[in-house]
Amino acid sequence: MAKDDNKGAARFLPDRRDLTELRRAAGGCQGCELFKKATQTVFGAGPAGARFMLVGEQPGDQEDRRGAPFVGPAGRVLDRGLEEAGIEREEVYLTNAVKHFSFTLKGKRRIHQKPTAAEIDACRPWLEAELAVVHPQVVVVLGATAARSLLGTEFRLTRQRGEPIPLGEALAIATIHPSAVLRAPDRDEAYAGFLADLKAAADTA
Ligand code: URA
Ligand code: SF4
Repeated sequence: MAKDDNKGAARFLPDRRDLTELRRAAGGCQGCELFKKATQTVFGAGPAGARFMLVGEQPGDQEDRRGAPFVGPAGRVLDRGLEEAGIEREEVYLTNAVKHFSFTLKGKRRIHQKPTAAEIDACRPWLEAELAVVHPQVVVVLGATAARSLLGTEFRLTRQRGEPIPLGEALAIATIHPSAVLRAPDRDEAYAGFLADLKAAADTA
């Protein structure tokens, strides 16, 4: 076995591939260093037959504590966008490119740290397994980290957002991350662009 076969999440994947088993197995993943400091694995959430799969970057502080994706400030932007785009929550499976929270400590505060390329690669087997089980029609790619994981290093969000891109049997639509809406100098404008991309995703399904 090549040395690299021991790296990453692949060797933690279960034989039986359904969401219950995947979630259980991901709880024990040690495919990269991130499990050491984080509270828990934050696996995806939603029904197996969802038409839409939404992929974020990684859990944030609140997601890490609560064990569910998009339950903090970015999740509130996302919820509003989904509702305004006419996408029902029951049609959505939500997950992240990286399943553990990456942070640095600043005093007692945990400051979000972008996952590295190696961490994104290490965690991709979980995302691929989720895609295979959920089998969505449309994959909404939220921000550059998810785009790197799913669409490769050549993909440019600024140029290619909002347009359908074949991804296996699904179509992917990329947009900015909801956290980027919150950080934008002009939030209303950023949100309008985000919503337009979500509407494009709704029309694609
Ligand atoms: N940001 C993400 O990318 N994912 C979450 O689950 C929360 C915040
Ligand atoms: Fe495993 Fe992903 Fe967590 Fe790394 S971030 S330990 S690959 S689940």
